[in-house]
Amino acid sequence: MTPTRPAPNGTRLGELWRILPEEATASGDGVLEIGGVAVTELAERFGTPLHVYDEVGLRRQIRRFIDGLGERWPDSEVLFASKSLPAVGMYRLAHEEGLSIDIAGGGELQLALAAGVDPARLYFHGNAKTDAELQMAVDAGIGTIIVDNDDELDRLERILVRPQRLLLRVIPGVEAKTHVSQATGGSGSKFGLPMDQAERAIARMQAHPLMEFVGVHLHIGSQILDTAQFAEAVGKISTVGTFSTYDVGGGLGVSYTYDEQAPSVESYLDAIVAAAREHLPAGSRLMIEPGRSIVARAGVTLYRVTSVKRTGRTFVAVDGGLADQMDIALTQQRYEALLADRLLEPWSESVQLVGRQCESGDLLVDGAPMPPAHVGDLVAMTATGAYAYTMSNNYNGALKPAIVFVSDGEARLVTRRETYADLLATHAPARAGVLV
Ligand SMILES: Cc1ncc(COP(=O)(O)O)c(C=O)c1O
Repeated sequence: MTPTRPAPNGTRLGELWRILPEEATASGDGVLEIGGVAVTELAERFGTPLHVYDEVGLRRQIRRFIDGLGERWPDSEVLFASKSLPAVGMYRLAHEEGLSIDIAGGGELQLALAAGVDPARLYFHGNAKTDAELQMAVDAGIGTIIVDNDDELDRLERILVRPQRLLLRVIPGVEAKTHVSQATGGSGSKFGLPMDQAERAIARMQAHPLMEFVGVHLHIGSQILDTAQFAEAVGKISTVGTFSTYDVGGGLGVSYTYDEQAPSVESYLDAIVAAAREHLPAGSRLMIEPGRSIVARAGVTLYRVTSVKRTGRTFVAVDGGLADQMDIALTQQRYEALLADRLLEPWSESVQLVGRQCESGDLLVDGAPMPPAHVGDLVAMTATGAYAYTMSNNYNGALKPAIVFVSDGEARLVTRRETYADLLATHAPARAGVLV
């Protein structure tokens, strides 16, 4: 499909195609289409708020990572950091496309197994894995556990009954240029062991008959736009020692706004592999774990306008909010939005796009250019494919949105919207009268 991509005067549509899904286009009457389906039809059929994913774009992006790393380094493996979109449909798609999967916790393990992912392709991360989670992972036949600390080694000593592949997470001391809560490789990080404690932990694993220690892992953070930082991390990890495997984590940033220019997958891979050629053993396995950069651009969130208020500023309020876009509060991530059913009209207003949660911080976009909005219009927030669904919650009793994958003119519901029955279910004890 070759999308028609108009850029009429009086709109900023031309600039937005860069951050809209690859298979997005505008119909002749100005309605956003994704994967050949009009968003008006999607909203009608599945309701709003709705997370819509361009499946073709997703698969294409995955191939850029797998093929791109494979072409540059002989023994490579790409993991999908599933925390960025923990939906069974996405686990299945990622597995189908040949990605291994990074899980962090028992819940993501369950989702991956439910999707039919081969347990041997799972990598278990986390700085606070419990006995129960490790037992569950080992029982499921998990391929690799990324050991974070000595207490986890104590646990594994108790649990293991057969050989288990292990990586060790180290703290490289790279202060990533990103939001403080997304930087994970600086010297003060809670994740992994400092370099000077790694040797002892590695010796412990190597001495244990059931621990198959294969190499080291690091992850310097998320939404990183300077590829030199990834190269620096590769240099640091090489100093831990000579092993068969080096996993250099995820973290490639994406373009969220009109102004942001994220590096391409290719330039990211060039930077990592150039550093690997310089620092790592030629025959070693090089692994990466992208999450955000696989799924962010492929996703948009659709909202219905519920009210338009002009009080000196124009507030356009929609039927969702912070509960489905927590990133905005946690990391001050900025997004763009567009009036998805009237793209071609002049964008003559700059509006405060606000949600319905009881916080003034529930400001989805501060100054979104769009035509004058009416109640019932459809708004699309762009590049919401990563971590939005992940962090959706029930603030003010909000229901977690549904997820739809769209390709070649067809839409498939992969995750249904939460219902009020779901919302009430965990409160069954109180409803059954335990308090009266
Ligand atoms: C261990 C690990 N690997 C990979 C990722 C994925 O990062 P991103 O989504 O920024 O690519 C994360 C997320 O922070 C992570 O904690």
